[in-house]
Amino acid sequence: MSKSILVLPGDGIGPEIVAQALKVLDKINQQFDIGMVFEEGLLGGAAIDAHGVPLADATLARARAADAILMGSVGGPKWDKLDRAIRPEKGLLKLRSELQLFANLRPAILYPQLADASTLKPEVVSGLDILIVRELTGGIYFGEPRGIRTLANGEREGFNTYKYSESEIERIGRNAFEMAMKRNKRLCSVDKANVLEATVLWREVMDRLAPEYPEVSLSHMYVDNAAMQLVKAPKQFDVVVTGNMFGDILSDAAAMLTGSIGMLPSASLDKNRRGLYEPCHGSAPDIAGQNIANPLATILSAAMMLRYSLDQEPAAQAIELAVSKVLDQGQRTGDIMSAGMTQVGTDAMGDAVVAAL
Ligand code: IPM
Ligand code: MG
Repeated sequence: MSKSILVLPGDGIGPEIVAQALKVLDKINQQFDIGMVFEEGLLGGAAIDAHGVPLADATLARARAADAILMGSVGGPKWDKLDRAIRPEKGLLKLRSELQLFANLRPAILYPQLADASTLKPEVVSGLDILIVRELTGGIYFGEPRGIRTLANGEREGFNTYKYSESEIERIGRNAFEMAMKRNKRLCSVDKANVLEATVLWREVMDRLAPEYPEVSLSHMYVDNAAMQLVKAPKQFDVVVTGNMFGDILSDAAAMLTGSIGMLPSASLDKNRRGLYEPCHGSAPDIAGQNIANPLATILSAAMMLRYSLDQEPAAQAIELAVSKVLDQGQRTGDIMSAGMTQVGTDAMGDAVVAAL
């Protein structure tokens, strides 16, 4: 049975890194006889240039019909001055929201070969394996009302709404408890319940779910402390569950623990585990087109796609093992380069992973 994959390379380094993931997936397709069929679409700035909107209805329809979506990155200075409603990022946010991809899994794993690439001391990060479960379709990213308005005195005011319903909290909470069950059974829920009512309710719902997962030990942490603990003693965490904005921020911090944000993949899943797979990093317009970007986060996102949406665990593991082998061989893109290693470009890194398969 064939599996249709919609590929959305996006902007900046997106097309270069996605091309590497496609090379790897082609090889995997042959080796494991998965029957993936790829079609490309436009998202973000690329879609604005072609259609005037960051996500065309036709592309959204193709996304709905696909078995999985593989994405690069969106955005860049070229589109920064556009009206807020048609910014490149809006295309991605619409895709997440329309497809109800509420569960964003962001694993931060330190490959032992990269212990020196982290800005933190090797003993602080060695063996690190955290999973951040970020709520992705609610919270302040989507809350209404929102906007910039002019007050009676003529001054302008920007405003957003931070809200979470019980059902939204419950579904991401269940997801996180289930992830914790498959790992080391520790779940830390991150909130700001000392200040924000929306997160008082968040904490309450997490506590209410806890007895249903008696093997999982649930703890709570305020987001400011969580940011500090992530850089102080990150190995205390197993699974972290948090809202959309806190998850955005904490996952960038967690990424650096692993040496480079260029190593961090992600999966955004709906309730049936259909999903969108993308690296956690952005479109890096400053290095786009130079064949120097690290494609490993996208290649590892492709592995997550095989695992979660296509039910191909052995194929997912084969990719992860191939990435590890390439790191053993000493091949490094600039962002993870260290003394004695061999610096390679985007394309060569992709080829190296294919060869390791
Ligand atoms: C991410 C990105 C996005 C987000 C942007 C591009 C809208 O930073 O996936 O972390 O804020 O969610
Ligand atoms: Mg982000």
